[in-house]
Amino acid sequence: LLGIYGSELNMPVYVVGGFVRDLLLSRKNFDIDIVVEGDGLKYAKYAARNLRTTFVEHSEFHTGSLFFKDGFRIDIATARTEYYEKPADLPKVELSTIKKDLYRRDFSINAMAIKLNSEEFGVLIDFFGCKHDLDRGIIKILYNLSFIEDPTRILRAIRFEKRFNFKIENRTLELLKDAVNNGYIEKVTGMRLREEFEKILNERNITESIDEMGKFGILDHLFLYSQYKKSKLETFEKVLKFYQWIKKNVPKYSYKVKLFHLFLYSYLVYEEEQAALYSFERYGLPKKFLNNLEKLKEAILQLNKLNTYSSYSDFYKIVENFDNELLIVISGFIKEEIKDKYKSYLLKINDFTLEIDGKDIMSLGIKGKLVGVILNEIKMKKLDGKIQNEREYLMNFVR
Ligand code: CTP
Repeated sequence: LLGIYGSELNMPVYVVGGFVRDLLLSRKNFDIDIVVEGDGLKYAKYAARNLRTTFVEHSEFHTGSLFFKDGFRIDIATARTEYYEKPADLPKVELSTIKKDLYRRDFSINAMAIKLNSEEFGVLIDFFGCKHDLDRGIIKILYNLSFIEDPTRILRAIRFEKRFNFKIENRTLELLKDAVNNGYIEKVTGMRLREEFEKILNERNITESIDEMGKFGILDHLFLYSQYKKSKLETFEKVLKFYQWIKKNVPKYSYKVKLFHLFLYSYLVYEEEQAALYSFERYGLPKKFLNNLEKLKEAILQLNKLNTYSSYSDFYKIVENFDNELLIVISGFIKEEIKDKYKSYLLKINDFTLEIDGKDIMSLGIKGKLVGVILNEIKMKKLDGKIQNEREYLMNFVR
């Protein structure tokens, strides 16, 4: 239908980019990007009317999106040559043909199109030997300034390489490293970099990607004033493993947890304050991030003094009121010896409740701070299995 609408309006219509790549690789992809030669907005409105879908326009980019009831979405753009006023800016858009549109894209594997108009339906458009690169498993930029104009492509190259188990072509790799070493990562906004970095964290080969980003100096430029070390990756691997355990066994503690935060807590905890401050400001981290790093350091110190015989209340006293993210990151730093005990502590505290509360204590004529002290005392004792009946204990305590 999308092709038929194009023909009705006398406009060539193509599906492009990642969808075509994945189709040729027989991989599922539900993100459809359409490019129209002509007035993309007119086409999009026409298609939306005929398909009775919701249409949202992004007029400055000559693009729009169709939203279907089941959450399915199609993005429509006008064929364009993006040119960049200065490196790392968002592109200005100039209307153009499909060839130029494809040439401006990140890598050859993402620069193919399939025509949709009924006359030529299904014809693969490949101007730059893209299919050949896809078949050989090569990540290759199409023009020398690609990484300079859009340094987020540095991260994208790593992501696609690891996702498909492809290889970054030699010259592309040289230009990638040049862009990193010449400080082009620093020219992009933190938000765009964060988005790309988060996409890497959502892929399956996270640790391989991180290791490669470390070796190429990408991490040192993303998180200025810090330094990549293999041991940091090993710590993060432990954190990831523990996060999986949490999701399976105590899902409550995975609520609102962000992988990006888990990574940065574990990556920056022993770095100079300057490193934490830089990433905090650049990547819009939560207000409590810096304070949490301090809490984390102290908790690691205290927890590593415990042993297998320590009681649940010992754990409780150290990590009481900690955010879910901190509870998870801690796992990367504690001795193996106490890890099982830490896990059973989390299981225990997960469904731990007290039958009595402050009011019960006050009803016995006790006032002020003492109420909290007594309540806490009862809580610790119950956690450690030293109390069976809280009310009885309370009565004896008062007597
Ligand atoms: N693109 C680009 N430069 C970028 C981002 C995107 O040239 N920095 C182009 C590529 O042609 C890409 C298309 O825009 O295929 C769509 O981008 P996106 O949806 O981010 O990527 P996909 O290739 O669809 O990857 P994924 O499978 O991860 O969604």
